[in-house]
Amino acid sequence: MKFFIDTANVEQIREAAKWGVLDGVTTNPTLLSREKGSFKDILREICSIVPGPVSAEVVSLEAGGMVSEGRELTKIADNIIIKVPCTTEGIKAMGMFKAEGIQTNATLCFSPNQGLLVAKAGATYVSPFVGRLDDVGHRGMDLVADLVTIYNNYSFATQVIVASIRSVQHVYEAALMGADVATIPFKVVDQLIKHPLTDKGIQSFLADWEKVEK
Ligand code: G3P
Repeated sequence: MKFFIDTANVEQIREAAKWGVLDGVTTNPTLLSREKGSFKDILREICSIVPGPVSAEVVSLEAGGMVSEGRELTKIADNIIIKVPCTTEGIKAMGMFKAEGIQTNATLCFSPNQGLLVAKAGATYVSPFVGRLDDVGHRGMDLVADLVTIYNNYSFATQVIVASIRSVQHVYEAALMGADVATIPFKVVDQLIKHPLTDKGIQSFLADWEKVEK
């Protein structure tokens, strides 16, 4: 499973990149609104840190505007991919982007049927928002399981990015389900490697090492 980081914060991205497990970055307008500086400069810097795909989202609501915006965004760096919402206009735009060889991430996916349509439209990735589904009393990870099954049933090339991740449990379940990617906030990435028994074991080994004749 690939690991993307879900942030526009350059310091967090630099830190996660040092761990050698980072495959890409996802941003959205909310994440960019939390950072200082022009969004293009921020995206350019992110793309220089991480060679893998960096998602940048369009804000137009109709397909023509999405495609114009997306073309501009791809000029920022070669590894920019375009986040497009799962709407009727969005799937039109996804088809146009595909025809131009521009990669897309179908965002704000909340149902298996949305996932089916964006795959047919040629989206490179789909982002089911699991945390936001959990928030309204659904089981977000059920959507991931459905998408993995549907894409396997028909050999769709669209890759599933588990998004809106809130916990290490989401990451674990995503890996068990065979999701292609998890896009993870820094706080959760940081928690993935931690285990109290590992810390306790290190302390105990260090204490015993003191007793070893050297
Ligand atoms: O990748 C999508 C993500 O940014 C949304 O997360 O926590 O705002 O639901 P959240």
